[in-house]
Amino acid sequence: YKRVTTKSLIEMKADGEKISMLTAYDFSMAKIVDAAGVDVILVGDSASNVMAGHETTLPITLDQMIYHASSVVRAISRSLVVVDLPFGSYQSDAKEALRSAIRIMKESGGHAVKLEGGSEVKDSIKKILNAGIPVMGHLGLTPQSIYKFGTYTVRAKEEEEADKLMKDAKLLEKLGCFAIVIEKVPAHLAEKVAKSISIPVIGIGAGGGVDGQVLVIHDMLGMNNEFSPRFLRRYLSLYEEMTTAIGQYVNDVKSSDFPNEKEQY
Ligand code: KIV
Ligand code: NA
Repeated sequence: YKRVTTKSLIEMKADGEKISMLTAYDFSMAKIVDAAGVDVILVGDSASNVMAGHETTLPITLDQMIYHASSVVRAISRSLVVVDLPFGSYQSDAKEALRSAIRIMKESGGHAVKLEGGSEVKDSIKKILNAGIPVMGHLGLTPQSIYKFGTYTVRAKEEEEADKLMKDAKLLEKLGCFAIVIEKVPAHLAEKVAKSISIPVIGIGAGGGVDGQVLVIHDMLGMNNEFSPRFLRRYLSLYEEMTTAIGQYVNDVKSSDFPNEKEQY
């Protein structure tokens, strides 16, 4: 099998082949995701929620993202690894953004970075791209701005925000981004955007008219049974399966059933 590159993703869009993307934050999970044939592994700042238990993505640090990303990189042999620039590591100016992106590339071995926003972060994107670092955009619901939005509900339902999203997508394409994540916007809008640009649009809660899909791995495996938005398809019920298995272990220990004669030296 061939390694997935930013170039191959653009070719996949041109060929009409959908792109599969999932998050991973650690070595063991990334090994499974890579072996299963996922095209892109996102070391998302959703690690802040999923791995660290924070309510938002804001608290996770650049050092913590690098720790997660380096663990993922050590596990993969095919997937493209994209790493989120965390909140506070790229918003103040383009130089800081470049410094943060360079740290991710050098210290984790990731293949590309992702950052949230359109025209607001134009200079930072340019600067990072000029250094030879591939950039993935992220538009629509951008969780690092949750305190501006106030809620995690669907974005760009009104014309003004939909127009800005379209403009931003075209800008990101023009700047040289290799792909864009579009999160939680009406399906017809996401499809229109995907058809208007030649770089892939990877959707989450953005319908089937885009060029690929991304989900948080813990959500799609059903490890978290509190979070069930409409866009989430659960492929396993790991929360139940794992609590049952662990409960059996507890019982086996308490009843001295484990270890048995064969399970000792
Ligand atoms: O951090 C993340 O998991 C993401 C995806 C939801 C796109 O940015
Ligand atoms: Na993210």
